[in-house]
Amino acid sequence: MERTFIMIKPDGVQRNLVGEIIKRFEQKGFTLAGLKLMQVSRELAEKHYDVHKERPFFNSLVEFIVSSPVVAMVWQGEGVVASARKLIGATDPLAAEPGTIRGDFGIEIGRNIIHGSDAIETAQREISLWFSEEEICSWENSMKPWLK
Ligand code: PPS
Repeated sequence: MERTFIMIKPDGVQRNLVGEIIKRFEQKGFTLAGLKLMQVSRELAEKHYDVHKERPFFNSLVEFIVSSPVVAMVWQGEGVVASARKLIGATDPLAAEPGTIRGDFGIEIGRNIIHGSDAIETAQREISLWFSEEEICSWENSMKPWLK
Protein backbone atom coordinates (compact mmCIF):
# COMPACT_ATOMS: atom_id res chain seq x y z
CA MET A 1 0.00 0.00 0.00
CA GLU A 2 1.45 3.36 -1.04
CA ARG A 3 1.96 5.88 1.74
CA THR A 4 2.97 9.51 1.94
CA PHE A 5 4.11 11.89 4.64
CA ILE A 6 2.14 15.08 5.14
CA MET A 7 2.97 17.86 7.59
CA ILE A 8 0.66 20.77 8.35
CA LYS A 9 3.15 23.55 9.05
CA PRO A 10 2.88 26.04 11.95
CA ASP A 11 0.92 28.55 9.85
CA GLY A 12 -1.66 25.90 8.84
CA VAL A 13 -2.13 24.84 12.48
CA GLN A 14 -2.37 28.44 13.77
CA ARG A 15 -4.86 29.36 11.08
CA ASN A 16 -7.12 26.45 12.14
CA LEU A 17 -6.80 24.68 8.80
CA VAL A 18 -6.14 21.22 10.28
CA GLY A 19 -9.75 20.03 9.93
CA GLU A 20 -10.12 21.48 6.43
CA ILE A 21 -6.93 19.78 5.26
CA ILE A 22 -7.82 16.42 6.78
CA LYS A 23 -11.28 16.72 5.21
CA ARG A 24 -9.78 17.15 1.74
CA PHE A 25 -7.64 14.03 2.06
CA GLU A 26 -10.56 12.03 3.47
CA GLN A 27 -12.95 13.20 0.79
CA LYS A 28 -10.49 12.29 -1.93
CA GLY A 29 -10.67 8.73 -0.60
CA PHE A 30 -7.32 8.31 1.14
CA THR A 31 -6.90 6.60 4.48
CA LEU A 32 -5.26 8.12 7.54
CA ALA A 33 -2.61 5.78 8.90
CA GLY A 34 -0.77 8.05 11.36
CA LEU A 35 -1.44 11.40 13.04
CA LYS A 36 0.25 13.49 15.73
CA LEU A 37 0.48 17.09 16.87
CA MET A 38 4.05 17.79 17.79
CA GLN A 39 6.61 20.44 18.63
CA VAL A 40 9.45 19.68 16.23
CA SER A 41 13.06 19.63 17.44
CA ARG A 42 15.67 21.53 15.46
CA GLU A 43 17.45 18.23 14.83
CA LEU A 44 14.37 16.68 13.23
CA ALA A 45 13.62 19.78 11.14
CA GLU A 46 17.21 19.91 9.88
CA LYS A 47 17.17 16.21 9.01
CA HIS A 48 13.83 16.53 7.25
CA TYR A 49 15.05 19.40 5.05
CA ASP A 50 18.62 18.10 4.79
CA VAL A 51 18.48 17.99 0.98
CA HIS A 52 17.92 21.79 0.97
CA LYS A 53 20.70 22.68 3.42
CA GLU A 54 22.70 24.69 0.88
CA ARG A 55 19.72 26.78 -0.18
CA PRO A 56 19.46 30.39 1.06
CA PHE A 57 16.12 29.85 2.80
CA PHE A 58 17.24 26.76 4.77
CA ASN A 59 17.75 28.49 8.14
CA SER A 60 14.53 30.47 7.99
CA LEU A 61 12.61 27.37 6.93
CA VAL A 62 13.98 25.40 9.90
CA GLU A 63 13.24 28.33 12.25
CA PHE A 64 9.69 28.42 10.96
CA ILE A 65 9.08 24.68 11.37
CA VAL A 66 10.32 24.68 14.99
CA SER A 67 8.46 27.89 15.88
CA SER A 68 5.20 26.22 16.99
CA PRO A 69 3.44 22.85 16.73
CA VAL A 70 2.89 21.02 13.45
CA VAL A 71 0.58 18.14 12.57
CA ALA A 72 2.45 15.16 11.14
CA MET A 73 0.45 12.59 9.22
CA VAL A 74 0.78 9.44 7.17
CA TRP A 75 -1.84 8.96 4.46
CA GLN A 76 -2.19 5.86 2.38
CA GLY A 77 -3.90 4.83 -0.83
CA GLU A 78 -3.36 4.14 -4.49
CA GLY A 79 -1.18 6.84 -6.03
CA VAL A 80 -1.27 8.87 -2.82
CA VAL A 81 2.18 10.46 -3.20
CA ALA A 82 1.48 12.20 -6.51
CA SER A 83 -2.17 12.81 -5.74
CA ALA A 84 -1.33 14.52 -2.43
CA ARG A 85 1.03 16.87 -4.28
CA LYS A 86 -1.87 17.77 -6.59
CA LEU A 87 -4.21 18.38 -3.65
CA ILE A 88 -1.50 20.57 -2.07
CA GLY A 89 -0.68 22.63 -5.19
CA ALA A 90 2.45 24.47 -6.35
CA THR A 91 5.16 25.38 -3.82
CA ASP A 92 4.51 29.12 -4.28
CA PRO A 93 0.92 29.72 -3.15
CA LEU A 94 0.57 32.62 -5.58
CA ALA A 95 1.23 30.21 -8.44
CA ALA A 96 -0.92 27.42 -6.98
CA GLU A 97 -4.23 26.75 -8.72
CA PRO A 98 -7.46 27.63 -6.95
CA GLY A 99 -8.96 24.42 -5.57
CA THR A 100 -5.60 23.31 -4.18
CA ILE A 101 -4.77 23.78 -0.50
CA ARG A 102 -2.03 26.36 -1.15
CA GLY A 103 -4.05 27.99 -3.93
CA ASP A 104 -7.05 28.43 -1.66
CA PHE A 105 -5.34 29.41 1.57
CA GLY A 106 -1.85 30.82 0.96
CA ILE A 107 0.02 33.84 -0.34
CA GLU A 108 3.65 33.54 0.80
CA ILE A 109 6.14 30.86 -0.24
CA GLY A 110 7.70 30.91 3.24
CA ARG A 111 4.25 30.27 4.79
CA ASN A 112 2.83 27.68 2.43
CA ILE A 113 0.77 25.75 4.99
CA ILE A 114 1.65 22.17 4.23
CA HIS A 115 4.38 19.77 3.17
CA GLY A 116 3.92 16.59 1.14
CA SER A 117 6.57 14.07 0.10
CA ASP A 118 7.68 14.58 -3.50
CA ALA A 119 8.30 10.92 -4.45
CA ILE A 120 7.69 7.40 -3.16
CA GLU A 121 11.30 6.99 -1.94
CA THR A 122 11.17 10.39 -0.20
CA ALA A 123 7.90 9.38 1.45
CA GLN A 124 9.49 6.21 2.84
CA ARG A 125 12.43 8.19 4.22
CA GLU A 126 10.22 10.90 5.74
CA ILE A 127 7.73 8.45 7.30
CA SER A 128 10.53 6.56 9.04
CA LEU A 129 12.07 9.86 10.18
CA TRP A 130 8.85 11.16 11.74
CA PHE A 131 7.01 8.01 12.87
CA SER A 132 7.92 4.83 14.72
CA GLU A 133 6.38 1.63 13.39
CA GLU A 134 4.02 1.42 16.39
CA GLU A 135 2.60 4.85 15.56
CA ILE A 136 1.35 3.74 12.15
CA CYS A 137 -1.93 1.83 11.96
CA SER A 138 -2.27 -1.05 9.60
CA TRP A 139 -5.72 -1.15 8.04
CA GLU A 140 -5.00 -3.97 5.61
CA ASN A 141 -7.05 -6.62 7.42
CA SER A 142 -10.11 -4.44 7.80
CA MET A 143 -9.97 -2.64 4.44
CA LYS A 144 -13.26 -2.07 2.67
CA PRO A 145 -13.23 -2.53 -1.12
CA TRP A 146 -13.84 1.21 -1.75
CA LEU A 147 -10.64 2.13 0.13
CA LYS A 148 -7.93 1.77 -2.47
S1 PPS B 1 9.72 21.45 -3.93
O1 PPS B 1 8.31 21.38 -3.49
O2 PPS B 1 10.59 20.64 -3.07
O3 PPS B 1 9.87 21.15 -5.34
O4 PPS B 1 10.06 22.95 -3.77
P1 PPS B 1 11.41 23.68 -3.58
O5 PPS B 1 11.30 24.99 -4.27
O6 PPS B 1 12.55 22.79 -3.96
O7 PPS B 1 11.41 23.96 -2.03
C1 PPS B 1 11.90 23.06 -1.10
C2 PPS B 1 11.28 23.34 0.25
O8 PPS B 1 11.62 24.64 0.67
C3 PPS B 1 10.46 25.45 0.83
N1 PPS B 1 10.78 26.78 0.30
C4 PPS B 1 10.91 27.86 1.06
N2 PPS B 1 10.76 28.05 2.36
C5 PPS B 1 10.94 29.31 2.84
N3 PPS B 1 11.28 30.35 2.07
C6 PPS B 1 11.44 30.21 0.75
N4 PPS B 1 11.80 31.26 0.00
C7 PPS B 1 11.26 28.92 0.18
N5 PPS B 1 11.36 28.41 -1.07
C8 PPS B 1 11.06 27.09 -0.97
C9 PPS B 1 9.37 24.78 0.05
O9 PPS B 1 8.09 25.05 0.60
C10 PPS B 1 9.76 23.32 0.22
O10 PPS B 1 9.36 22.84 1.49
P2 PPS B 1 8.12 21.90 1.66
O11 PPS B 1 8.01 21.67 3.11
O12 PPS B 1 8.42 20.66 0.88
O13 PPS B 1 6.98 22.67 1.13
